[in-house]
Amino acid sequence: MKVLGIETSCDETSAGIVEEKDGKLRLLSNIVSSSISLHAKTGGIIPETAAREQIKYIIPVIEESLVSDFDAIAVTVGPGLLGSLLVGVETARTLSYVFKKPIIPVNHLIGHIYANWIESSEIKFPAIGLVVSGGHTNLVLIKNHKYLTWLGGTRDDAAGEAFDKIGRLLGLPYPGGPSIEKRSLDGDGKKFNFPRPMIDSDDFDFSFSGLKTAVLREVKNNNLNTEFVNNISASVQKAVVDVLVNKTLKAAKQYDVESIILGGGVAANQKLRNELKEKSAVELFIPSKSLCTDNGAMIAAAAFFNYKAASWQNLSANPQLHFA
Ligand code: KG4
Ligand code: ZN
Repeated sequence: MKVLGIETSCDETSAGIVEEKDGKLRLLSNIVSSSISLHAKTGGIIPETAAREQIKYIIPVIEESLVSDFDAIAVTVGPGLLGSLLVGVETARTLSYVFKKPIIPVNHLIGHIYANWIESSEIKFPAIGLVVSGGHTNLVLIKNHKYLTWLGGTRDDAAGEAFDKIGRLLGLPYPGGPSIEKRSLDGDGKKFNFPRPMIDSDDFDFSFSGLKTAVLREVKNNNLNTEFVNNISASVQKAVVDVLVNKTLKAAKQYDVESIILGGGVAANQKLRNELKEKSAVELFIPSKSLCTDNGAMIAAAAFFNYKAASWQNLSANPQLHFA
């Protein structure tokens, strides 16, 4: 069976085809068009601009992804920006009506987790899932494909959002995450001892907005020269990675899991990948970097394990969709 996955929840327009054979997934195509360069000019996403771009690109992107036929259409229905989600959802409804194919609505956050199944079929349960993106920081316990429990999440900014906002304070190109990672390579992460909010709290919640305030204080008292920006970048990256690694390992231990599964744009961060690899006592799964950031293939992958077809008449976008 082959599924066409469509993803338009934020600033990417993406479509991909994934095939399932004997329980294993195979990636046939994954086309991503990003409006990042437009948002770089404004230092962040303007929802109206994102949606207008997505309307322009959705058909060419789907056309390019159609390297084979498909049996069903999976589409992100939430969470995300309403205008952006509607582009994908309305396109999927139209394709479903015209080609008489079922639609499988997919939660974007679940999609990030299932990006892992495109490259690994042997992921053992129970597992701890960490979804870290521009809009979300969530820890979940996955007992099996049908049973997922939310353990905690951010109380304010998501990890990626913190990187993006701090990147802007430092005058770095949008998105902040990759820019901060790049500048960290030449910086000293011990120069600034930034707060590690909630690192020892009794729950699985996160808070990253205090980090932004701490950086703002330093920025006000210093010149934004190369050495300063590199050191702040390395210190911020270290603080965020410390908190994410600490909480994820704590959850893995407490629930005595067999694996840790990462997903979301921040999972592309090499320091986060390295530290978890080094410290995890259980098997660790992280998608290739191109499958960490938003893409259509992960939405198709999630559909195989959450196959609940909806009719095009009943499908609608839900910007506030939660994890479970
Ligand atoms: O999953 P994603 O593409 O979109 C959302 O669902 O939000 O994640 C985008 C986020 C942005 O905040 C971006 O700064 C961050 O992921 N990001 C990174 C890296 N690559 C992307 N953060 C840290 N290091 C990276 N290499
Ligand atoms: Zn995402």
